[in-house]
Amino acid sequence: MTGMKRKVERRADMKKANTVFTKSNILSALIIFITLALLAFSAYFKVIPFTKALDEDGKAYKDIYAPFEYYDETGTKALADRAADDTEPVLVSRHDATFSSFEDISLYFDKTDTFRNEIEQYKVQGGDYANYLDNRISAYITMSLTNSIDVNYETVRYILDEISDAEYNNFKSIVTQEFSSVQNRNVFSANRESLLEEFRDSTEYAIIDIRLREFAGEIAGSFLRINSIVNETETEAMKEAARASVMENNSIVIEEGALIIAQDEKADAETIRLLEEMNLLGGSSFNVRIFIGLSGLLLVLMVPVIMFKLLFSGKKSYTKRHILVICVIEVLLFALVYLIPGTYYLYMPVFVLPMLIAILVDEKIAIIVGAVTAVFISFVYKTDITYLAILISVGTMSAYFARKISSRMRLLSSGLILGIASALILFLSTLALNRNPADIIESVLALVAGGLISVILVIGLMPLFESVFNIITPFKLLELANPNRPLLKRLLMEAPGTYHHSLMVGNLAEEAANEIGANGLLARVGAYYHDVGKMSRPGYFAENQGNDNPHNKMKPELSKLVITSHTKEGDEIAKKYKLPHAIRDFINEHHGTTQVKYFYNKAVEKYGDKVDPDDFRYEGQRPKTKESAVVMLADSVEAIVRAGGNLSRGEVEGIIRKAIKTKLDDGQFDLCDLTLKDFDDISNAFLRVFGGYFHKRVDYPEPKESKLNESQSRDISG
Ligand SMILES: [Fe+2]
Ligand SMILES: [Fe+2]
Repeated sequence: MTGMKRKVERRADMKKANTVFTKSNILSALIIFITLALLAFSAYFKVIPFTKALDEDGKAYKDIYAPFEYYDETGTKALADRAADDTEPVLVSRHDATFSSFEDISLYFDKTDTFRNEIEQYKVQGGDYANYLDNRISAYITMSLTNSIDVNYETVRYILDEISDAEYNNFKSIVTQEFSSVQNRNVFSANRESLLEEFRDSTEYAIIDIRLREFAGEIAGSFLRINSIVNETETEAMKEAARASVMENNSIVIEEGALIIAQDEKADAETIRLLEEMNLLGGSSFNVRIFIGLSGLLLVLMVPVIMFKLLFSGKKSYTKRHILVICVIEVLLFALVYLIPGTYYLYMPVFVLPMLIAILVDEKIAIIVGAVTAVFISFVYKTDITYLAILISVGTMSAYFARKISSRMRLLSSGLILGIASALILFLSTLALNRNPADIIESVLALVAGGLISVILVIGLMPLFESVFNIITPFKLLELANPNRPLLKRLLMEAPGTYHHSLMVGNLAEEAANEIGANGLLARVGAYYHDVGKMSRPGYFAENQGNDNPHNKMKPELSKLVITSHTKEGDEIAKKYKLPHAIRDFINEHHGTTQVKYFYNKAVEKYGDKVDPDDFRYEGQRPKTKESAVVMLADSVEAIVRAGGNLSRGEVEGIIRKAIKTKLDDGQFDLCDLTLKDFDDISNAFLRVFGGYFHKRVDYPEPKESKLNESQSRDISG
């Protein structure tokens, strides 16, 4: 590759970084848009049931349970109104009215007594009795009418003339007694009629003769006085108090999970109202308000995700594949949200999301995406603050565990820890919110189960994501690091020098990558495989050579070809052994586009200045990740230090610094986003690892042909 070509390429890289509307960005935006739409609709149809709850006759298609706790305001108000209506009025008694009523009725009976006595006497004296009786009856009727008592002639004759004293006295005492029993009560306009009714009921069996009974009713009707008046102000206050008491103490709350209507039961007006208010009636026209609310929330929740990414992920841009993985996990989770009824939401394996994203993408984005998803799920399920607290705090923990833990068994035990942490938050929140801790046992079990199900799903889904999206996980990395892997075994057998070189590069790269916050395990495994291409011609590389160096008899340009082809050949082998892309990147990038200086110098020696320096460069790619850059450095430093023999710490440090400077100046680290501080940290990490070997020296025997100069050893080994 010529220098000009490289410059053009680098400019193209920069241009690419500055353009927003690249094909890849548009595709990513499209993926995100489709995901958000799916989430919005699944949430909407979770909140508003898709199917109708009741048939044409108003019968329920299935049992309908309350998916969330609901305060029935309308029902509570109706209950309060009823309580107000039932409130007894506040009365002011007027005892004088009672007293005068008793006086009047007793006076009326006194007069009746007098009429009866006079008629009795006239009977004894003799005379025109019939005429006399007729006169008295008329007089009695007149007297009664002045008392508003309407009584007919026959009845009067019966009372004054026909019944015996005993019968009359009995009548009189019954009427007086029953009358006083009603008149002694509170009589006011609203209950006067019902009291008279009571009077008539109580005399029905006591007075046998129908005429007397009617007469008694007339008497009571005439004399029953209103003796109480309603205090409107106080009554209204009492009603208000009754209403307030219901609203405060007896409010109707539909418990979450309570049966609202059973299957085939006919819904009454009250139930229909409740279903409608709780948005459970379903099948109704599209509720634009709720949909705008939910999808708007989703959009707003995207803002912190973007800000978080800008703040903490620096210039790192997530690849299309990463975005797709996050979106697919979101959609899967919301499929679960849609399927799992509100009453069982505590069993939701929500931690699948932060854990899988942490394993497959990175833990930073896992934490923020987990948190905003938690907020949204909380809206959909209308959960209380405790569940949201669990989702966010334990979700963050789960991302941490998923990233740090490297065996499936330990992942399982971390599921238990997550469940227990959730339960602990639940318990503490019941204390904080002054609720009864005894009520939470079932919830605790649900949360522990949810944590375990999350982890089991993670373990089950991970290999699927690994293969579908070709993403490398810590678990996959550990598998690849196993020395029993066929490719590593072959490397050991066919190129033992390269094998040991790779192990040492792995040690260096892991330490340095961890130091700068990159993925140490990935760097180590990448280092293990970086030189597999040398298996094609192991003897051409210094670390596998004995006394005899084939390059001595070769033209420099041919040597260069043999040496540089190990990256391409490595990639071919890696493809054959189905190594993941992330590992193949190390093979392709570990020499970047560096120059094979030893053979370039040899060529200049041989052909003079007409040699193009770019003809002696590797035709690989420059490191795109921190891990890859670290392996590049570890690789070149290891080769030089090994060849150098007995070196002091200062000499090793010098070698490291020089390697860093040369590659920086050559633009090899332009794509991988390392800072100067990172290079310091990498250098210190390398020195620490070498320090372990300075004492022992076993791994660094003097090269048999120690006359190799620095650049040769580098060029024909790394
Ligand atoms: Fe190499
Ligand atoms: Fe190497």
